[in-house]
Amino acid sequence: MSNRMDLHKLGFLQVLLLSALGSCAGQQALPPGVRYGAVGGNVTFTTTIDPSAGQQFLTISWTFNGAPIITLTPTVESPSEAYKGRVTLSKATGSLQLRQLTNSDSGDYGVSMVTQEAKTIAGEATLKVFGPISDVTAKANATEKPIVEFNDTVSLTCSAAGSDLSYQWLTGASVIASGDRMRLSDKNRTLTISRILRSDQGPFACAASNVIMAKRSEPILLTINYGPENVKMTVTPQKPIHKTGSNLNLTCSAESVPPAVFGWVFNGNPLKQEGPVLQLTNILESQSGNYSCVAHNTVTLRYMPSETSRINVLEGISGSTIIGPTTSLIAGNSTANMSCHAVSGTVASREWKKDGKPLSPSDRITIAADKSSVSITPVENTDSGDYVCELSNAVNTETASYKMTVNYGPEDVQVKGEEAVEVGDKVVLVCSARSLPPAAFSWTFNGTLLGVTSAEYTIGSAVYGQSGRYACMAKNNVTGLSLSAVHTLSVKEEGALEEEESLSGGAIAGIVIAVLVAVGIIAAVVYYMRTNRKIESPY
Ligand SMILES: *[C@@H]1O[C@H](CO)[C@@H](O)[C@H](O)[C@H]1NC(C)=O
Ligand SMILES: *[C@@H]1O[C@H](CO)[C@@H](O)[C@H](O)[C@H]1NC(C)=O
Ligand SMILES: *[C@@H]1O[C@H](CO)[C@@H](O)[C@H](O)[C@H]1NC(C)=O
Ligand SMILES: *[C@@H]1O[C@H](CO)[C@@H](O)[C@H](O)[C@H]1NC(C)=O
Ligand SMILES: *[C@@H]1O[C@H](CO)[C@@H](O)[C@H](O)[C@H]1NC(C)=O
Ligand SMILES: *[C@@H]1O[C@H](CO)[C@@H](O)[C@H](O)[C@H]1NC(C)=O
Ligand SMILES: *[C@@H]1O[C@H](CO)[C@@H](O)[C@H](O)[C@H]1NC(C)=O
Ligand SMILES: *[C@@H]1O[C@H](CO)[C@@H](O)[C@H](O)[C@H]1NC(C)=O
Ligand SMILES: *[C@@H]1O[C@H](CO)[C@@H](O)[C@H](O)[C@H]1NC(C)=O
Ligand SMILES: *[C@@H]1O[C@H](CO)[C@@H](O)[C@H](O)[C@H]1NC(C)=O
Repeated sequence: MSNRMDLHKLGFLQVLLLSALGSCAGQQALPPGVRYGAVGGNVTFTTTIDPSAGQQFLTISWTFNGAPIITLTPTVESPSEAYKGRVTLSKATGSLQLRQLTNSDSGDYGVSMVTQEAKTIAGEATLKVFGPISDVTAKANATEKPIVEFNDTVSLTCSAAGSDLSYQWLTGASVIASGDRMRLSDKNRTLTISRILRSDQGPFACAASNVIMAKRSEPILLTINYGPENVKMTVTPQKPIHKTGSNLNLTCSAESVPPAVFGWVFNGNPLKQEGPVLQLTNILESQSGNYSCVAHNTVTLRYMPSETSRINVLEGISGSTIIGPTTSLIAGNSTANMSCHAVSGTVASREWKKDGKPLSPSDRITIAADKSSVSITPVENTDSGDYVCELSNAVNTETASYKMTVNYGPEDVQVKGEEAVEVGDKVVLVCSARSLPPAAFSWTFNGTLLGVTSAEYTIGSAVYGQSGRYACMAKNNVTGLSLSAVHTLSVKEEGALEEEESLSGGAIAGIVIAVLVAVGIIAAVVYYMRTNRKIESPY
């Protein structure tokens, strides 16, 4: 101690002396400021002496907290016992290197150098030796209880071994500063996040540092429980109306940590089913109604319902039939009523078609306002055909058909065949009629039944007595109507018809007249020539 005091005095006097002389300014041998070193490391106290000046010193001596470290004279270098092998002193500058630092090397160092001109240059410095930084750990206080978004406050605390430590919190590479929800306290050792958000999951790390080194903790991640939010229900398949008997899946989703559990609500009442998918199989009309799902988070204890979707179920049309007349219809007389119905399903609309074309009303055809029936009064043969009724509702379309047959006739009865034949000729008479069902025929000759019921009446070889009136009667056994046509046949002597085939009476008369005319002309010419011969010509 006394030594150091002496040096101080010496330096002080020197400064006074030098300033009084007004020559070179008083020289501080060491730059100001604290030196730092790590345990086990080296430190060099570098003096302000310029080695190139070639200055010579009579003595250089260093002290630690007043106790000598080393003293150097041009002849002797004498380090104290504690510093042997740990120090190196520069003769040219007085700089001191101290190696294998320990915590106990922290303290005040002094140097005093006496020049050959008997000037003393002195300096002081402080050394701080730091131990290594270890065990840097970040910990959240919320470990036994789950963290709930918006509700919870979480404290992160940094611990580390080392001296003169200061702390920082980082997320990723960026340093966290105190803000609205994030507060640093306890000299930055503690980071408190209030009203925690899902985005606050980290990773968080803390860094402990002193002037010479820094060390980071392992990063930690927070599990922040949140939700459910954004609860959505989807119905597959998506249709405005579903047919009874079809299968539907209702699927519920939500943003939630931990994953939400789902419940289902039908017309305001909870259903027994749970889980993200509600399967509705073989649905009934009674299952039409309002559906929604509710998501629940068992940690945040929050519930969140989805929007409500209406599901409409409609029975499809089946068992469609046309009920039409069961008795025979007679053209011009009968009325035909047809009605179109389905065994199940609510019919929304009906369309009638005949032979593939839309059926339109007329003075005979009346279609009911709801198109459930068609009435035809009276029926005509053109009404025969295939009738179709198309029944529809929102989920399907079915068709029913009815084949209508209108009986009519006989009409337009005709007999075709020879009118005149020669004895021995063959005669074929054919009777025809328009009729449904086809007419039955019966033949009479001069009013006497011939006992023939086919359409064709044949005489193999005609005789005179077969001349006369042949009548064909067509009878429709459904309409009960009958109609006849008459045909007259004359049987002539052999050759009677051939004559007519050569020259007619008129032709013969024409030839006779032509011959007479020719004879007359010749006679007239002869007479003329005879009378004119007596008259002389004037020439
Ligand atoms: C300290 O100095 C010695 C000699 O100059 C050198 O060998 C050693 O590597 C240094 N140690 C450190 C930690 O700088
Ligand atoms: C964590 O610490 C903060 C503040 O110190 C406190 O408000 C909070 O309740 C703690 N959280 C838990 C889960 O202990
Ligand atoms: C705490 O950290 C902030 C931001 O890194 C820094 O500005 C502040 O100086 C630190 N305070 C202490 C006491 O270390
Ligand atoms: C409903 O889900 C089940 C199971 O995932 C699947 O087998 C079925 O095809 C789905 N039905 C519909 C209509 O999507
Ligand atoms: C279904 O919801 C609609 C509109 O949201 C409502 O008018 C109707 O009464 C609800 N039906 C039932 C059966 O709850
Ligand atoms: C969250 O806070 C709300 C209101 O502050 C409270 O009603 C609810 O019970 C809290 N939730 C949990 C899981 O503590
Ligand atoms: C129509 O039917 C009525 C009674 O069934 C019958 O008296 C009448 O003769 C029929 N008319 C025709 C043209 O068939
Ligand atoms: C046909 O329907 C009309 C009106 O519906 C009814 O007056 C008539 O008696 C019905 N005729 C038959 C043959 O069913
Ligand atoms: C049939 O009637 C015609 C006249 O209508 C008559 O000339 C003919 O002799 C009659 N034939 C018989 C076999 O009665
Ligand atoms: C009517 O005549 C047809 C043949 O033309 C026959 O097949 C049918 O059995 C007859 N029906 C009645 C009721 O006599």
